[in-house]
Amino acid sequence: MLDGLAARNSTYDVQSPDRISYGFGATSELTAFAADNDLDSALLVSDENIVDVGVTDPVVDALEDADVSVDVFTDVKPEPKLSMVEDAADVLRDGGHDLVVGAGGGSVLDTAKLASVLADYDVPITDTLGMGNAPGAGRPLVLIPTTAGTGSEVTHIGVFSDEEGVKRVVYDEALFADVAVVDPELTRMLPKPVAAATGLDALTHAVESYVSTLRTPYSDILAREAIEMVGSNLRGAVLQGRNNDEARYQMSLAATVAGQAFVNSGLGAVHALTYPLGSEYGVGHGRANAMLLPHVMEYNVPAEPERFADIADRLGADAEGSTLERAYASVDAVLELTEDVGVPTSIGHLGDFDEAELEAFTDIAFEYSEHNIDRNPRDLDRADVLQIYRNAL
Ligand SMILES: [Fe+2]
Repeated sequence: MLDGLAARNSTYDVQSPDRISYGFGATSELTAFAADNDLDSALLVSDENIVDVGVTDPVVDALEDADVSVDVFTDVKPEPKLSMVEDAADVLRDGGHDLVVGAGGGSVLDTAKLASVLADYDVPITDTLGMGNAPGAGRPLVLIPTTAGTGSEVTHIGVFSDEEGVKRVVYDEALFADVAVVDPELTRMLPKPVAAATGLDALTHAVESYVSTLRTPYSDILAREAIEMVGSNLRGAVLQGRNNDEARYQMSLAATVAGQAFVNSGLGAVHALTYPLGSEYGVGHGRANAMLLPHVMEYNVPAEPERFADIADRLGADAEGSTLERAYASVDAVLELTEDVGVPTSIGHLGDFDEAELEAFTDIAFEYSEHNIDRNPRDLDRADVLQIYRNAL
């Protein structure tokens, strides 16, 4: 049975990378991919820390097994600057690499995506910002997440910041990977706070997708399963990461599936309201989402009680009572999960925010992320956004 919104959105194109290789050891698929496509030289885009601790060694080994030479570009920082993408594109242009491999967290994958396109076109990077403005297809691109959360490996979205620190986003089909390689083995060394924050980003993607005004019957299936997988496995993946292969397997799957859900449905107010926390206070994306998710959910519950009651069930809340009471139990379930994995559930600890600062946050949320506000299941005006920030203090 289609509910109102899913029925309205019941005809759709599925957005996806060409291919997804999934599972322990999937990194070795790179060897066949490089051989089948006669590739000679790769640029591995990554970050220095994970290269240093050996997380990317299986990636390099798989490429070398296909006689592909590997250069490494590690100058990618969180909230990557547009200038970092330009630097990576320059290295690609000068090196003549015929394959771009991004292996890392969301920032690394996003940088690899846009650099793979920019390298072949003589256009300023600022011309590519926004929807559908990439000049054309780029060099062959493989994306390999080393966290379980952002879903960036299966989206055509790149999130960057300009020189003033303002978030800038590129959405274009040219940014889809030729292959997304999702290998849970690569998340074994994830530090706990990173596993927790990125896992909660995946949960936010799944929840926002499940109640988005652009959701479809297809995105619903993915979102529902992802919520359940995060609910059952995030604690194990964070608290027993190195030894709990099952939890990490399920979390990598949840993150990928949640990425496929939201790329086909859009997100919601959490991803809008977190904008100022990143740009003004440098809070990482997943952590910022976790601080606001319960508060946005609480606001949204009355608009979609059946869906939130379902979310509560899938998170194992075991709630009783009316649909609305069971729906509110989803908020408590998220609060509990977030606390159990050691992530704050409010923004108050970031500072003593006065009304003027919360007003400024509201300005930023509307100025840069109105499309996410538009996809929120319950309408929001400035006063509503302001109240959610107050509730989150
Ligand atoms: Fe996100």
